[in-house]
Amino acid sequence: MVPAAGIGSRMAADIPKQYLPLHNATVIEWTLRKLLAVQRVRKVVVAVAEHDPHWPQLAISQHPQIVTTGGGAERADSVLAGLGALQGLAQSNDWVLVHDAARPCVQPASINRMIDELHDHPVGGILAVPVADTLKYASPREPADIDKTVDRKRTWAAQTPQMFRYGELLNALQNASGDGFIVTDEASALEHLGVQPRLVVGRTDNLKITTPDDLALAQLILASQSN
Ligand code: C5P
Repeated sequence: MVPAAGIGSRMAADIPKQYLPLHNATVIEWTLRKLLAVQRVRKVVVAVAEHDPHWPQLAISQHPQIVTTGGGAERADSVLAGLGALQGLAQSNDWVLVHDAARPCVQPASINRMIDELHDHPVGGILAVPVADTLKYASPREPADIDKTVDRKRTWAAQTPQMFRYGELLNALQNASGDGFIVTDEASALEHLGVQPRLVVGRTDNLKITTPDDLALAQLILASQSN
């Protein structure tokens, strides 16, 4: 399931970041090619904004394994809409991987390793990397002061894909939404139910494109991957 209904405000571009050009294609085309290269991925549901003029122009939108649906106001709403489109296609116990449209540098080998590591896990889990920097928790004021230092030994950066069972993920996201609990990734909705998703070691080059600098870096990463 690929949420692709964001407007990418931090990119400050004329079009949403998933449609920006990147290494002879667009960001979202790279993302989808990577997912479709994973043999165990049967279908890819893409949630796009209402009246999105860019998506229908891409040939990949007609790919036989791709299903298109509408997105929502927040990322979690888009994921819920995507899961809704899987009704009838997915059984409650089937695994679903949610992957940001804005992470085109993910490697199919990482996804395969994640599926191998998690396929018999009771909850599921996420790709993530141990954080190299020392992280500071900031005061709410601007300019910010340091409130405290986070324990680096136990701090990881969450990435996608995030892999959970269809029924459990749907239930967790609906429950979070009902509670008004803000989720910025799927794992936090599962954590809110009291379960502990597994951290699967990913790669630091699976970056999420957020700013123009990220786009330049992704260009270099993709060029090195195709060598
Ligand atoms: O904004 P952020 O970088 O966290 O977005 C992560 C992913 O979620 C992007 O692929 C974006 O298109 C998607 N998204 C969405 N619906 C929203 C907001 C973000 O599908 N309302």
